[in-house]
Amino acid sequence: MRFAQFLLKNGSLAGIPRQVERFSKFSPSPLSMKQFLDFGSANACEKTSFVFLRQELPVRLANIMKEIDYLPDKLLGTPSVKLLTSWYSRSLMELVDFLEKDPDDKDVLKNFTQILVNIRNRHNNVVPTMAQGVLEFKEAFGVDPVTNQNVQYFLDRFYMSRISTRMLMNQHTLIFDGSVNPAHPKHIGSIDPSCDVAEVVKVTKTTKKVCRKNLLSSIHLESAKSPGQPIHIVYVPSHLYHMLFELFKNAMRATVETHETSPTLPPIKVRVSLGIEDLTIKMSDKGGGVPLRKIERLFSYMYTTAPSPVHVDMSRNAPLAGFGYGLPISRLYAKYFQGDLQLYSMEGYGTSAVIYLKAMSSESVERLPVFNKSALRHYQASIEADDWCMPSKEPKKLGKYERTQ
Ligand SMILES: Nc1ncnc2c1ncn2[C@@H]1O[C@H](COP(=O)(O)OP(=O)(O)O)[C@@H](O)[C@H]1O
Ligand SMILES: [Mg+2]
Repeated sequence: MRFAQFLLKNGSLAGIPRQVERFSKFSPSPLSMKQFLDFGSANACEKTSFVFLRQELPVRLANIMKEIDYLPDKLLGTPSVKLLTSWYSRSLMELVDFLEKDPDDKDVLKNFTQILVNIRNRHNNVVPTMAQGVLEFKEAFGVDPVTNQNVQYFLDRFYMSRISTRMLMNQHTLIFDGSVNPAHPKHIGSIDPSCDVAEVVKVTKTTKKVCRKNLLSSIHLESAKSPGQPIHIVYVPSHLYHMLFELFKNAMRATVETHETSPTLPPIKVRVSLGIEDLTIKMSDKGGGVPLRKIERLFSYMYTTAPSPVHVDMSRNAPLAGFGYGLPISRLYAKYFQGDLQLYSMEGYGTSAVIYLKAMSSESVERLPVFNKSALRHYQASIEADDWCMPSKEPKKLGKYERTQ
């Protein structure tokens, strides 16, 4: 185990390989929105949450640490990825420390909350740090389709795992720190049990970066059950905000760049529809669209169209711009509670980005990666011949079949 050997050299972290093996044998336990809310109910118990998290967090960390170990050597060897694995190792060990501690001891519970805050802060820059590692690797060794596929598979799972562990840590620290969020007294941790979707769209629209052009002209609401009424959903507003913000930025940029010379800019329209199963949000722009061939690439971590960021400022919290991660990370947020995010484009006209969420909270259950044999097979994939014929780039020379005049 290469990663483990690297860690073994570091004396203080000597127990890590054993702990990774131990906890990765368990599958993560996905929580439903209802279970998340139960932790925040009046009779919620900090002790129960503590006992659950001191096992569950190490399980989720260890599962993804097993996958880190299967990354290409050259990617594992980049300074960024080394730094990142040291954060994961330290956090795992800090959590494991609590396994033998007494849940009835108030000080233990207090220390645990503090450790969660520390871990969350330590991992603040995981996304740009990993992105930096991928960039270094790409610049040094290029991209081939198999590596691209492996890295894409890994990063979707890695970032999803991170969304989930942050969700767990946020819920525990927000719910049990003894205070109520004055701005949102009804929120359960980071969940709004009655999240007004149109309101989040409006808030996104008025964010500094987006409102400059004031391009959003309309929000249409369609509700199968109660027409004309606001649409509410049990959801994490910050996740919804994140997705809408990224989509707005893209739609705005496409609109502005396509209509540079025209005096007026065509509006961006948002439609929200609540059905029995799905809550769907569609954002449509007239920004010229993207050819079908390129759509999949827009979700790729390795084939980004964005120019390489010159310098990553690790001290700031939002250095994501420039990595081209807006769409892939937004899609993960949508998928996290069993939704999805898709782009439908008409080249020459515009694009619709559609966010699908589960309308019923009972269906909103965490979607989590688990390390097992199927996952392992993905990392062992090799170049195989395509089972569909590829059209030749050169015009075919059919000369010998041509009729002679
Ligand atoms: N609405 C859109 N219209 C046209 N192109 C788009 C649209 N949304 C995304 N794109 C293309 O997809 C690329 C990737 O988007 P994203 O993942 O948000 O990263 P970034 O915006 O940082 O480049 C954009 O650079 C752009 O070329
Ligand atoms: Mg973007």
